[in-house]
Amino acid sequence: MTAVRSPIHGQWSSRLAFILAATGSAVGLGNIWKFPYTAGENGGGAFVLVYLLCVALIGIPVMISEVLLGRRGRRSPINTMRELAGEERAPGPWFLLGWLGVVAGVLILSFYSVIAGWALGYLVRAASGAFTGIDAEGSAAMFAGLIGDPERLLAWHTVFMVLTVVIVARGVKSGLERAVTIMMPALLLIMVGLFVYAMGTPGFSEGVNYLFAFDMSAIVNRPETVLDAMGQAFFTLSLGMGAIMIYGSYLPKQASIPQTVVVIALADTLVALLAGMVIFPIVFSNGLAPGSGPGLVFETLPLAFGQMDFGVAIASAFFLLLALAALTSAISIIEPLVAWLVENRGMSRVLAAATAGIVIWLLGIGSLLSFNILAEYTVFFGRTFFDALDFLTSNIMLPLGGLLIALFAAWMMSRSSTEEELAVTERTRGAYNVWRFLVRYVTPVGVGLVLLYGLIQ
Ligand code: TRP
Repeated sequence: MTAVRSPIHGQWSSRLAFILAATGSAVGLGNIWKFPYTAGENGGGAFVLVYLLCVALIGIPVMISEVLLGRRGRRSPINTMRELAGEERAPGPWFLLGWLGVVAGVLILSFYSVIAGWALGYLVRAASGAFTGIDAEGSAAMFAGLIGDPERLLAWHTVFMVLTVVIVARGVKSGLERAVTIMMPALLLIMVGLFVYAMGTPGFSEGVNYLFAFDMSAIVNRPETVLDAMGQAFFTLSLGMGAIMIYGSYLPKQASIPQTVVVIALADTLVALLAGMVIFPIVFSNGLAPGSGPGLVFETLPLAFGQMDFGVAIASAFFLLLALAALTSAISIIEPLVAWLVENRGMSRVLAAATAGIVIWLLGIGSLLSFNILAEYTVFFGRTFFDALDFLTSNIMLPLGGLLIALFAAWMMSRSSTEEELAVTERTRGAYNVWRFLVRYVTPVGVGLVLLYGLIQ
């Protein structure tokens, strides 16, 4: 049966617009903030290798599935799952997968916005020349000063959420699409510039070696590395919660999904690896510890900016772009909930965006307090509220959502439906069979084992 639904919230003007938007979603704090510090906490190379394997063998097939479901359903993930389950005669409760994603999105954006606020705070410091001549201690003190000040964190978190709501309220074309077209290329440019700088630092080869030297004993000593790496793959590709699904629902019918997905995944991986190859050389050149946690990027980069020519301008551009990269991700995290409020609660986009924004903003206060007033208060196996949310979403909810998406596309949908949506031809049948094998067996078994193991831990 051919799906004849048309998109109800708007449509990207071209395949390129979708690539930019989805890359804008994928590239964000996950690449530049989370990837380096999680790699550092897990000892480097072993984590990176597992992460790359997860991107290739699980991330890309799941992303193809998620875009496919979105474009076929053409609605918010909750209603898309309801429609598709009906059409494919799958059990009704599949719509709960949409809800799992909406809840995950609310949780993720609540802490994501706090970290994006750090980037905004650092933008102001960069522009005022505060990094000039700074040393490792000064940089650590500056970071501690920011996260120790709940009022300032609240102010920046508020600014970031307001920006997110304003863009989302303007809708698919004039809001989402316009925002990403300029920002993504600029971010890539500045990362390449920083990479050239890092090549000239004394710790360059040590930093690169740290990232790429595979050390099996690191995994044996710290088996959570595998769960962290899989969680990172889902988080950085924006998978498992419906963000990519809803972006797929705005994709024009004629665009090829698999090629598009590969471009997005490659761009995202490139930015993460670049970030790692910028940050670890600076870490080793300054005798810092790679495993120092979520402050890593904020404590290391000012050291580099403080020494280089035009450091004030380059640092300002960097933190501006980091905040903007976070913004293009944030709009995708909130979009499934906004679309559902419009579809099922009859709200205008503006009201829906504001409602979602307020809920997320409130929850974010818990995260920003876990860096100061509530720093000693642990809610979940020795984790602060922030750490607990991060762990629960990246390492549990997103892989679970991705697993269910793969199961639906592979086992609930008929072969003819997926072949039709992926526009399989004689020439591409081989690639289709590889995808189908991966989502039928490799993803469920791989994700399932890692999740089970992580839960037993
Ligand atoms: N991928 C983004 C990043 O790396 C964050 C993000 C956007 C995300 N949309 C998402 C994470 C959906 C999980 C799910 O910064």
